[in-house]
Amino acid sequence: MDALTSPLVSIRDLTIDATTTRGEAHILRGLSLDIGRGRILGVVGESGSGKSTLALALLRLLPANVSRASGQILLDGTNLLALNASEMGAYRGTRIAMIFQDPMTALNPLFTVGSHLTDVLRRREPGIARQQALQRAESMLTLVGIADPALRLNAYPHQLSGGMRQRIMIAMALLVQPDLLIADEPTTALDATVEAQIVELFSELRTKFSGSVVFISHHLGLVAELCDDICVMYGGVIVESGPVDDVLARPKHPYTRALLDCEIDDKGEGRLVSIPGEVPDPVSQLTACVFLPRCAHVAELCRGGQPRLAPVSPHHSSACVRAQEVLV
Ligand SMILES: Nc1ncnc2c1ncn2[C@@H]1O[C@H](COP(=O)(O)OP(=O)(O)O)[C@@H](O)[C@H]1O
Ligand SMILES: [Mg+2]
Repeated sequence: MDALTSPLVSIRDLTIDATTTRGEAHILRGLSLDIGRGRILGVVGESGSGKSTLALALLRLLPANVSRASGQILLDGTNLLALNASEMGAYRGTRIAMIFQDPMTALNPLFTVGSHLTDVLRRREPGIARQQALQRAESMLTLVGIADPALRLNAYPHQLSGGMRQRIMIAMALLVQPDLLIADEPTTALDATVEAQIVELFSELRTKFSGSVVFISHHLGLVAELCDDICVMYGGVIVESGPVDDVLARPKHPYTRALLDCEIDDKGEGRLVSIPGEVPDPVSQLTACVFLPRCAHVAELCRGGQPRLAPVSPHHSSACVRAQEVLV
């Protein structure tokens, strides 16, 4: 494979454990996943599936109690997990950028919007003149749909609405011109109207941003709308992955099927429907399929251990031993 057709990121057997008072938590249990160049990958799964930990691992911003981070995260062939802290620092905010769920965690209340944006530019282009940086910041604000951009440059984060702060975060991320942009539930903290506007902005970005995107959401509808590929996580495991149209039209894992059923009920009835049962406890060992306690299709084989993610068609993989049998 040449550089253009090979994936931007190849994650191999990514395993993250953390020490807790109840014992070792197995947060990511050996994930393998590719992120294609210029592709938008949606990562879905209920709360507690390990989505945010995957995002933090990509940035190597893992919590202090992490006791093991093994496997590989290859960005253009460089294993991010093997870099020292200063080498990794050089990737963050230049080649990889992140948009958090709550913009206030990433915005400093003491600095204006203008200084946030020009700081980002200066990191990328250390010699840039102040006036030029401000001009670029202003046109980026226009691009992300902020009215009166010149005025907003002088505003402080607390003077802006939640939706506007999220637009600022997106502007900061785009100024980085990263190869990989990670957005962790960027619309969850917003009300429905503003959420729709931000989703609209993300879909417009397609034409303005050529890097790869990891879009994390627990909302399948959003992922269907925005993403090219999808990866379904459950209990620290990837249970299904592939092109979004294929996976959502022909799900090959009972968990994906269950998520889709919730979404359909939710739309029809206007209430929040959830899958019966609970997500697995990360402290427990995996001795059978991770989804077994909540699965309606359990066979003897499922008790033997967690099945590997295996192809069901050329680009579509499932970690269910009964994928071809019960989910047709
Ligand atoms: N630093 C940590 N120490 C112990 N457990 C953690 C830590 N971070 C996350 N977890 C646990 O790992 C699981 C996955 O968390 P997270 O990655 O935040 O999932 P998601 O973003 O899908 O909700 C959850 O059960 C969470 O409680
Ligand atoms: Mg999360």
